[in-house]
Amino acid sequence: MHTDLLTVSQAAKYLQLSEKTVRRLIKNGDLQASRIGTRTWRIRASDIDKYIESSLNCNGRTDKTQNAVVEKMEEKTAPRLISLFSGCGGMDLGFKQAGFNIVWANDFDPDAQAVYSLNIGKIDGRDILTVKEDEIPDGDIITAGFPCQPFSNAGNRKGVHDSRGMLYKECLRIIEKKMPKVIVLENVKGLLSTYYIDGRKLVDVIIDDLSMMNGKGYNVVCKLVNASDYGVPQNRERVFFVGVRKDLGVEFKFPPKQSKDNLTLRHILDVPQNAKNHVDWPLSPQALKMIELIPEGGSWKDIPYEQLPPRFQRIRDNMKRYRSPNFYRRFSRDEICGTITASAQPENCGIIHPIENRRFTVREIARIQTFPDDFEFITDTSKNITAMYKVIGNAVPVRLAYNLAVAIMDQVFNNNENKEKELKE
Ligand SMILES: C[S@@+](CC[C@H](N)C(=O)[O-])C[C@H]1O[C@@H](n2cnc3c(N)ncnc32)[C@H](O)[C@@H]1O
Repeated sequence: MHTDLLTVSQAAKYLQLSEKTVRRLIKNGDLQASRIGTRTWRIRASDIDKYIESSLNCNGRTDKTQNAVVEKMEEKTAPRLISLFSGCGGMDLGFKQAGFNIVWANDFDPDAQAVYSLNIGKIDGRDILTVKEDEIPDGDIITAGFPCQPFSNAGNRKGVHDSRGMLYKECLRIIEKKMPKVIVLENVKGLLSTYYIDGRKLVDVIIDDLSMMNGKGYNVVCKLVNASDYGVPQNRERVFFVGVRKDLGVEFKFPPKQSKDNLTLRHILDVPQNAKNHVDWPLSPQALKMIELIPEGGSWKDIPYEQLPPRFQRIRDNMKRYRSPNFYRRFSRDEICGTITASAQPENCGIIHPIENRRFTVREIARIQTFPDDFEFITDTSKNITAMYKVIGNAVPVRLAYNLAVAIMDQVFNNNENKEKELKE
């Protein structure tokens, strides 16, 4: 807290209590305050901190006040997270659930911002290229799922030669200035086979830059992870870099793989009819005609040749040349779903419902990406609905982010040896 003397209204806001409750605390002597005139109170910031501490020591108080105070305390002691390329907040929600305190988030896409602020909190909407490092608060951890289109198999694979491919440099620029304890970068699998302009692999360039940064550097581990190994009902492969500042002496270990029980589509398609955002983006008449001919668990390969549109017939005629694409995959209820992509087109992801002739709804893909049902999307117009497929497809699955965040919390922030080192410094 920066202001030393607070009004009742400011103290109430800070403690997330009503002004009436704050006045009652003052009257009961639970919160120290000085009277100015007959009715006006001023409260020292240090007395608020004392009140928070004493409330925490009060066993057995389970009322709203106690919860708000505990939350505030946790926020004050939680590692501070700076989120770059935040999207609608998939990665951020997972980190928040694991106890991180998001102090700054950024994304220039208005659709992503709208969902982020509805569910998570404030987000800076500027193009990151225009944000100076000293405009960003300091933090203990920086996370960034930098744009992936240039590296994605679904994209044009121009890699670093595409201006969006250079955005990882924005992450490095901010990390270099802030030197947080931990950094987490996420990207698509295609990043692993992308080369930098000097002929080196881009992954190696990023690891080298980070490991030598500012003469301090990070111990970086880079791993291709399948989300379905971490409780996500989706086969989604993504590359993660986790770097821990070398002076902390921690070699990060990715959490062990988890069981894949209960991850098939059958387990997530039981959305109640009145659930929020349970609406779909209608398929084109041609796509609709095609999916009517695809059985559960099948793909476009099940459609009789003569019933295929000419474009698809040409591909079928020369499957080798087109590398046997797996268009229009219709996963069965007993399979784990394929990757949900931002474009949500049946040509590049398994977006078709197993037994109904439609795309998955926004709520269904949100579930496949492990957003909880109380995380709200904006689906009041058809334009919004299309945009939701994009922001959800772009997200890091919440449960994957959570599992990673818990491992980082345990290995770096709750690591007693590290705490002792910090105290000695
Ligand atoms: C792959 S998505 C990130 C998704 C996010 N990690 C999540 O879990 O929801 C990349 C995001 O980068 C944002 N972005 C791209 N270029 C940007 C720029 N120059 N400044 C700010 N945001 C940008 C896009 O709008 C997009 O939401």
